[in-house]
Formats: sequence, structure tokens, C-alpha cells
Amino acid sequence: MVRSLHKFLVSSLALVAAGFLFTAPASAAGDPVRGKTLGYTCLGCHGIETYKNVYPTYSVPKLRGQHAEYIVAALKEYRDSQRGHATMHAHASTLSDQDMQDIAAYMAGGEVKTAGGAPVGKPPAAVATCQACHGQDGVGIMGMYPTLSGQHADYLMQALNDYRKGVRKNAIMAPFAAQLKPEEIKEVAEYFARQKPSLLTVPTKEKVLTAAK
Ligand code: HEC
Ligand code: HEC
Repeated sequence: MVRSLHKFLVSSLALVAAGFLFTAPASAAGDPVRGKTLGYTCLGCHGIETYKNVYPTYSVPKLRGQHAEYIVAALKEYRDSQRGHATMHAHASTLSDQDMQDIAAYMAGGEVKTAGGAPVGKPPAAVATCQACHGQDGVGIMGMYPTLSGQHADYLMQALNDYRKGVRKNAIMAPFAAQLKPEEIKEVAEYFARQKPSLLTVPTKEKVLTAAK
């Protein structure tokens, strides 16, 4: 009796687990409910549409709709000083890997999916090399490739210049950023910033929170 009950439980759990894997997005590793509590302080910057970094001045990046996997990777890079940004280093240093997963699940919300439509405006020539990873419309084709569509153009320019200068140390992006001329950096940043579907600023007044589905 106990044995068959055990068998029954195990097989039901297996079914639940299989269904979970089948329907869950990549962000499912994180708990968005816990992430909302942990990420409360982050919204002081990432929850305000017009918030700017100062010295130099550029917009704080949008995170809603971003790939959760990429958010975790970025946080680890700030923590490990692969990205030089003092404030983000300080924040990321307080977080465990699990905290990062949970915050990423919350911040990302429903990750934006490519709509497959025509690009908004004529793509500048330099965008051709970026599409293999970031998609023609700026929606990263895999969780490790950040979505750029609808991101603040001034932030995208800052990021590209930081890969060029080595303020961001990243083996994949360094050569691509190095190829771009200053005017191309502006063109590609403005191109990706106007693409749809757009990343959004995480809403601070968000009350209802459901697990990612
Ligand atoms: C004082 C304002 C501020 C606070 C608070 C803050 N951030 Fe940031 N965050 C920034 C700025 C500015 C950047 C861009 C840094 C750069 O240029 O690399 C950034 C970058 C990021 C990125 C990288 C985004 C991308 O597209 O690569 C992530 C992820 C992130 N922050 C998450 C968080 C989390 C999680 C918290 C809370 C634990 C947090 N931030 C708290 C200002 C802030
Ligand atoms: C082979 C894949 C690949 C190609 C091609 C590529 N990227 Fe990237 N890109 C990445 C990865 C991976 C990252 C994340 C790097 C990191 O962790 O900092 C990234 C990050 C970025 C970021 C920072 C986003 C953020 O939210 O901080 C920008 C901007 C960017 N890429 C623009 C471009 C542009 C413009 C091109 C074309 C000239 C390009 N990329 C080509 C893989 C690629």
C-alpha cells in the first residue's frame, strides 16, 4: 500500500515535472514572487522611465521583457567586475546566484518575443552583423543574447562604447563593437531603440504578480 502510494506519487510528480518543463520559459528557474521583494531597491532606478546615470549621463537600462538568463549573466559580470560600474557592482555583490535568478524572473516578467514583422525604418548597413544574435528586430534569438529592441538609445551607445574601451570585458561583443565607427554606433543604437516589440521600464506600481507562465 505504502509502496504503491509512493509509486503513484513519484509518477505524478514526474508528470508534473514534465508538464512544467514543457510549458515553462527559460526564466522558470527563478521565483518572481521572491524576486519582487529582493528587487525592491532596484526599482529606485530601474522602475523610473526617465532615470539617468550621471557622469556620464545616460538612461538606466530597461529590464522588463529582457531575457532572464541575460539579466543573471549581466549581474554576475557586475559582481565579478567584468563590467565596470561602481553602483551596479555594489548592488550585485550583495546577491547570491539564487537571488539573481529570482530577481531576473521578476524583472524580466514576460520576455518579449519577436513579432516577425518588418523592421521599423531602414536598417543601417552595420546592423547586418548583429542580427545573427540580436535578431533583425533586436529580440535576442537566445536567452544569452540580450534583447535590444526598445532599449534607450543612449544606453545602447554607452554599452557599445564600453565594449570598445574594455570597461565591459566580453569576448563576444568586443570585436563587434570594435568594428563600428562612431557614427555607426549612433545609427545602430537608434535603429534598435525604435524596434518593436519594445523592452519596458519595470512598473513600480505593479500589484498583481503571478508566476511566469
Ligand atoms: C542607482 C541606480 C541603480 C540601482 C539602485 C540599480 N541599478 Fe541596475 N543599472 C543602473 C545603471 C546606470 C546601469 C547601467 C550600467 C552600465 O553602464 O553598465 C544598470 C545596469 C543593470 C543591468 C544590466 C542591464 C543590461 O541591459 O545589460 C541589470 C541586469 C541591472 N542593472 C539590474 C539591477 C538590479 C537587479 C538592481 C537591484 C539589486 C539594480 N540594478 C539596482 C542603475 C541602477
Ligand atoms: C555572436 C553573437 C553576437 C553578435 C553577432 C553581436 N552581439 Fe551584441 N551581444 C552579444 C552578447 C553575448 C552580449 C552580452 C555580452 C555581455 O555579457 O556583456 C551582447 C551585448 C550587446 C549589447 C549590450 C546590451 C545591454 O543590454 O547592455 C549591445 C548594445 C550589443 N550587444 C549590440 C550589438 C551590435 C550593435 C552588434 C552588431 C554590430 C552586435 N551586438 C553583435 C552577442 C552578439
